[in-house]
Amino acid sequence: MQVAKIVAVSGKGGVGKTSFLALALKTLLKSNNRDILVIDGDADSNMPEVLGVNVKKTVGTVVNDFKEKMNKMAPGVNKGEYLESLIFSVLQEGESFDLLVMGATEREGCYCSVNNLLTKIMDTLTKNYSLALLDLPAGLEHVSRRTSKNINYMFLISDASRMGIQTAARIRDLAKALKSNFEHIYLVGNRITPDLEPMVKEQAQKYDLEYIGTIPPDDELAQYNLEGKSLLKLPDNNPAYQTVSKIIKSKLAL
Ligand SMILES: Nc1ncnc2c1ncn2[C@@H]1O[C@H](COP(=O)(O)OP(=O)(O)OP(=O)(O)O)[C@@H](O)[C@H]1O
Ligand SMILES: [Mg+2]
Repeated sequence: MQVAKIVAVSGKGGVGKTSFLALALKTLLKSNNRDILVIDGDADSNMPEVLGVNVKKTVGTVVNDFKEKMNKMAPGVNKGEYLESLIFSVLQEGESFDLLVMGATEREGCYCSVNNLLTKIMDTLTKNYSLALLDLPAGLEHVSRRTSKNINYMFLISDASRMGIQTAARIRDLAKALKSNFEHIYLVGNRITPDLEPMVKEQAQKYDLEYIGTIPPDDELAQYNLEGKSLLKLPDNNPAYQTVSKIIKSKLAL
């Protein structure tokens, strides 16, 4: 059976994770990869907007409904299959990629059985694709809940701040402590001017993070965000896109 390569982004809030992932997707689509699942793992989801996709339901909403109904279900009902059908109903199938928005899935109380089911469903789902792109918030709760345990490429994003780099290092440490399989972990600097780049690199080295590229501050990207335009529509000569594209092509060997 096919197994998707999992590419994830994480980092401190607001450093440019979603923008990086959108530009990585643009690169992959341009190289004719048409077998991609994008997973928005941020409870405060904004990936659909950045990609110009309209999403009404999230995994969180259907899982929370499922939790409420779970104990009242007839004994003959296969809960796993039922939950799987609910998740598939949330999957947004597009022409060139599919999108799954996790939303907020946490409720009070222990729902370990639901989380276990969810993990299995996610494993089954990703097997239908050759690539899965994951937008992960800094807490890494999806990894700790093991909804995403094997990550082939983890791109940690930081701005020119000590907190950004420290958060990246903390995520790397957490990933290692969880004994998840992270094959490659890289640090990418975003919104960094040439003047500050050497200092950012120095800090990355101090925390033993592999620094692989600098995305410049980009007014066009910011403008697209302000106007609510999809980053997939940025021109091919956009400097931020060109940097992300170079990184993705070299690291994913496209
Ligand atoms: N290189 C850049 N130049 C200019 N603006 C940028 C750049 N990268 C990101 N931005 C802007 O910074 C803001 C935050 O970016 P983004 O949403 O990608 O970050 P994030 O890490 O996903 O945030 P969150 O933690 O809230 O999910 C957005 O308004 C985006 O347009
Ligand atoms: Mg984001």
